[in-house]
Amino acid sequence: MGYNVAIDGPAGAGKSTIAKLVAKEKGYIYVDTGAMYRALAIHFLKKGVAPENTGDVINACRDADVSIRYESGVQQVYLNGANVTGELRTEEVGNMASRTSAIPEVREKLLELQRTLARENDVIMDGRDIGTNILPDADVKIYLTASVETRAKRRYNELKEKGEDCDLEQIAQDIKERDERDMNRDTAPLKKAEDAILVDSSDMTIPEVVSEICSHCR
Ligand code: DC
Repeated sequence: MGYNVAIDGPAGAGKSTIAKLVAKEKGYIYVDTGAMYRALAIHFLKKGVAPENTGDVINACRDADVSIRYESGVQQVYLNGANVTGELRTEEVGNMASRTSAIPEVREKLLELQRTLARENDVIMDGRDIGTNILPDADVKIYLTASVETRAKRRYNELKEKGEDCDLEQIAQDIKERDERDMNRDTAPLKKAEDAILVDSSDMTIPEVVSEICSHCR
């Protein structure tokens, strides 16, 4: 059994940035489960499946195989044998992932992959239901959040840095909608596990958040 740290929280809270740094400091593997939902989302987009047609989404799951490899310590996501890591982080893919991840069969498809990674390795696993559902016995559970305004501003700066045209108001609106969907779905909604440590990063620097989380870990 690996040593398991679960880190859950809403979109844009900084989970991946923080989890990568904690992984480096502690020698864990960083597992990004959102990337797995995003890989399935790419499959649905390629097949032209509408997220509201639940039956079509479930059918499309049958010929999707998502797997994970680590190359130089960095997670690579494969969809049906092709490395899709570079295609995961667009708004279109994120929105499709948010919609389709509400479907129990989609979640079921990725559950074993996530549990196996945690069983076989020391991991920090980032997602929405890791502490509540995937790894209920995780050694450490963190619920990382930040205000909508802070998260929108971070996302805005990230996109601007990449030279992408974007609108702060629109980003804040998208974040609110994604929160609403992720927190209110029937299956495995995003919520803080009772035994999770709440970290609100709105007024914290990255090193402060990393140090706070590391202080709870072996
Ligand atoms: O963390 P992210 O933005 O890459 O995740 C994309 C979407 O996938 C997110 O809106 C909700 C869903 N997701 C989930 O339902 N469960 C997870 N463990 C990870 C992500």
